[in-house]
Amino acid sequence: MAEFAIQVRDLYFSWSNGADVLKSCTLEVPQGEFWMLLGTNGSGKSTLLKLLAGLLTPTSGDRQVLAPVGFVFQNPDHQLVMPTVGADVAFGLVEEKLSPTQVRHRVAEALAAVNLLELQRRPIYALSGGQKQRVAIAGAIARQSEVLLLDEPTALLDPDSQLDLVAQVRRLVKSRNLTALWVTHRLDELDYCDGAFLLEKGCVVDRGDPQRLKQRLMQVELAS
Ligand SMILES: Nc1ncnc2c1ncn2[C@@H]1O[C@H](COP(=O)(O)OP(=O)(O)O)[C@@H](O)[C@H]1O
Ligand SMILES: [Mg+2]
Repeated sequence: MAEFAIQVRDLYFSWSNGADVLKSCTLEVPQGEFWMLLGTNGSGKSTLLKLLAGLLTPTSGDRQVLAPVGFVFQNPDHQLVMPTVGADVAFGLVEEKLSPTQVRHRVAEALAAVNLLELQRRPIYALSGGQKQRVAIAGAIARQSEVLLLDEPTALLDPDSQLDLVAQVRRLVKSRNLTALWVTHRLDELDYCDGAFLLEKGCVVDRGDPQRLKQRLMQVELAS
């Protein structure tokens, strides 16, 4: 039997003011795989990721996620808090009782993993959008995250940096045996993943082969 890094069973969630946003939501992501989550605006994708990260508590149902979990937001300016690249990655380690040498080693290793080691002293403001997302991912790697949750990380990027980022995350997942769940609207990104889920009104209505899902959604786009 496959080992799952993310397992969600019959999950329900509602915001205090309204109806169920997630309804009987069930999905599994095998350990070591890169899966994507698709669905129209308001279908509950961001809410599901926050439930997986433990930022929200479900009304009912189970979710199990291998820890530590790293979260990457759509807008890196909401995530990066320190003035320089190296300081930001180190900041994520403050809760771990590490020596200064261990921190330096973890930061350098994580930045090397996303090809940003040479920018360690660069101010965050001087980075491109794609570089900022790689700093956020380096933060998760420095904390030795087993699972990466990425909420539309390419939404603000130009097409070239978009495809660079998705290719890089695929390489990281495969070379470090991580597990990633990536939310997107961009169907060309499906070429990089192992499988995908389609969320509709808080429920997983399709799952599996990314190329089949891509065809299904391209037909929807053409018809609209
Ligand atoms: N903080 C919040 N308070 C109340 N309702 C919210 C909040 N965040 C999102 N919602 C609602 O929950 C539903 C799902 O939103 P969301 O998970 O952001 O969808 P998606 O990421 O798929 O676009 C939407 O109807 C949205 O308006
Ligand atoms: Mg969203």
